Amino acid sequence: MIVFVDELDGEEKINVYQAYDFIFGSATAAYQIEGGWSDDGKGESHWDRWTHCTPSLIANGDNADVACDSYHNYKEDVALLANMGAQFYRFSISWPRILPDGLVHKINEPGVQYYRNLISELKHNNILPFATLYHWDLPQKLSELGGWTNPWILSWFTDYARLCFQLFGDDVKHWMTINEPKQVCSFSYGIGLLAPGVCSPGVGEYLAVHNVIRAHAEVYHVYNKEFRCKQGGMLGIVVDSPWYEPEDPGNPDDVAAVDSKLLFGIGIYLHPLVFGDYPDVVKEKVKRRSEVQGFQRSRLPEFNDDEKLKLKKCFDFIGLNYYTSGIAKGDRSNPEGKGCFVDCEAIEYQAHCWESCALFWLKVVPKGIRHVLKWLTDHFERPLIYITENGYADNGGLEDYARINYIKRHLSQVKDAIDLDNCNVKGYAYWSLLDNFEWREGFRPRMGLISVDYRSPCRRRTPKKSAEYYKNVISARAVIDDQ
Ligand code: BGC
Repeated sequence: MIVFVDELDGEEKINVYQAYDFIFGSATAAYQIEGGWSDDGKGESHWDRWTHCTPSLIANGDNADVACDSYHNYKEDVALLANMGAQFYRFSISWPRILPDGLVHKINEPGVQYYRNLISELKHNNILPFATLYHWDLPQKLSELGGWTNPWILSWFTDYARLCFQLFGDDVKHWMTINEPKQVCSFSYGIGLLAPGVCSPGVGEYLAVHNVIRAHAEVYHVYNKEFRCKQGGMLGIVVDSPWYEPEDPGNPDDVAAVDSKLLFGIGIYLHPLVFGDYPDVVKEKVKRRSEVQGFQRSRLPEFNDDEKLKLKKCFDFIGLNYYTSGIAKGDRSNPEGKGCFVDCEAIEYQAHCWESCALFWLKVVPKGIRHVLKWLTDHFERPLIYITENGYADNGGLEDYARINYIKRHLSQVKDAIDLDNCNVKGYAYWSLLDNFEWREGFRPRMGLISVDYRSPCRRRTPKKSAEYYKNVISARAVIDDQ
């Protein structure tokens, strides 16, 4: 139970999280922090290839060859987490660091040892490891075979996941399969803005969607059959979504546009994993539009009956990454358009007056997190949810009061979601522990609680004011107002 106490003793103004089953932590991802891109037998990922071959696509031509060099500095990272009192650390395992060409015939022992060391360091510091199996760094060799659009990825990913359970599952009890399938499918294979940059909206994109869902389900069943009994952990999937406000709340098209955006963004993944099939709205819209466009069949593949059975109830928890919100408006003006962003028959935009920060798409809209939590609670049978990412970008500096404000306001909304909307939220991870490689935006936006000096050879780390604030939040188990 999480108890809200407005004024503890009349002097300190704090809202108290008294429940110790609500945990606080921070998150990172392998490609964004590890560096050591080819060290000790690590294979190439498609992000390595992309940043090396097309640097013009990345701000400043940056790449993550060294990044925060966490491959060599992980002990310091864990010490920083411990100093903040973090209860969990969400990190990701780099598939090509363990399996250089993606397949299990060749295991890279030093890569395995790196994660063993990291996990044991966390354990010694009483920090729970939350491991993501896939945070976008696909082995380049598999990418060349079509990556997530190739149905063989079901086997490749399952073999890799099984190996991770065997290697680390005695210590890791919280597993996440895929980080943000929407970015993986719609951005990497739809509009081509993330590696490997495939532009195939509504065709390759839906093949990826179909495979991501089925691959997640395969892994869930492997965990159930082979590991759950002896390891006793949990497995989830991490989705990301803005909240949407209807442009005109009095216009039914705009109200429907909100749901449509959410269904095409996260429902398309979660609905099958709870009920065994895509949401009706998604199936209907893609089918109708495909017909009009002259396709022989819907561009969205169908699950067969066995798959439908297999997909039902396929996660123990949902990881939610929430950063921002948008405004949705019904829009049927593009009958030829394809892909999640258009097939949903809605457009989205953000209000100019919303508070902005150093990432163009990240407007600060704290109440949106509560709405998304409630939407997930209402649509998917009150799932267990961890907030696996929530964070703010600035241009650097240690006096990051805007970040403190962001954390404070979002945590208050999370608390309301728990207390007032009956959402089953059990943890919050700030993104990110460290300033890091922000994908196409390179190193310019700073999102860390800890600043990283990229000019220093050891990538010197310095805690920001927000790290101090978060430390106080964790020890008080409270959203502290007076800082
Ligand atoms: C991703 C992170 C990323 C963050 C901020 C999320 O979409 O999971 O890798 O750094 O957003 O852009």
